[in-house]
Amino acid sequence: MSKDVIVALDFPSKEETLAFLDKFTGRKPFVKIGMELFYAEGPSIVREIKARGHKIFLDLKLHDIPNTVKKAMASLSRLDVDMCNLHAAGGSEMMKYALEGLKRADGTRPILIAVTILTSIGQETLEKELKIALPLEKTVTEYAYLASQSGLDGVVCSPLEAGKVKDVCGKGFLTVTPGVRFADGEKGDQVRVTTPARAAELGSDYIVVGRPITAAADPVAAYERACREFLGE
Ligand code: C5P
Repeated sequence: MSKDVIVALDFPSKEETLAFLDKFTGRKPFVKIGMELFYAEGPSIVREIKARGHKIFLDLKLHDIPNTVKKAMASLSRLDVDMCNLHAAGGSEMMKYALEGLKRADGTRPILIAVTILTSIGQETLEKELKIALPLEKTVTEYAYLASQSGLDGVVCSPLEAGKVKDVCGKGFLTVTPGVRFADGEKGDQVRVTTPARAAELGSDYIVVGRPITAAADPVAAYERACREFLGE
């Protein structure tokens, strides 16, 4: 399974996104399109970025009844994305239906990963609002295990949890990890952060990097630095 740096395209419009991507004249980064950009621009932005030669992680975090998720995944699969995701909280049947929906006529399908517990949810909210009595970390690994048993390829998690997830779900189960910062960079609103090199040591398969690249004075240099540190290239 190939490791890579995924650049989070957290931009509000097509114009800003394409102006940013225009800077990459050499190697085309694997990019993440989230709800902000997708809901603003629709499927055409995915097609346009794909046509420019980028791999795409479409981060829409689906969560609905199994049949609806299956049909939605079929639509995303036809968009030719390389990776997409859903909430493990939708249950094993929803995850299995999602996999069925993703399968293309030629037998290929995008990588499917699960969100376990959102990082905005703390122990107190977990207990008082979601009514989950388990410790947060245990809930994350239980949801990851459910995702692996449902046939998914991996989860989104902190690099600091990557080892634990692999212990529970197996080495081949992918960990896609945001919360990455350069050693000399700003943390912003991320609390628990690691460097690209440390994320590699901890077993991350893909790091998702947003502002350290998108807000850098020289985004291409910042991307190349992330690749050097994470991939050793
Ligand atoms: O700018 P920054 O590097 O913090 O961006 C990280 C990206 O990963 C953003 O698109 C953010 O929404 C996403 N993400 C995250 N933490 C999670 C899940 C997704 O930062 N737990």
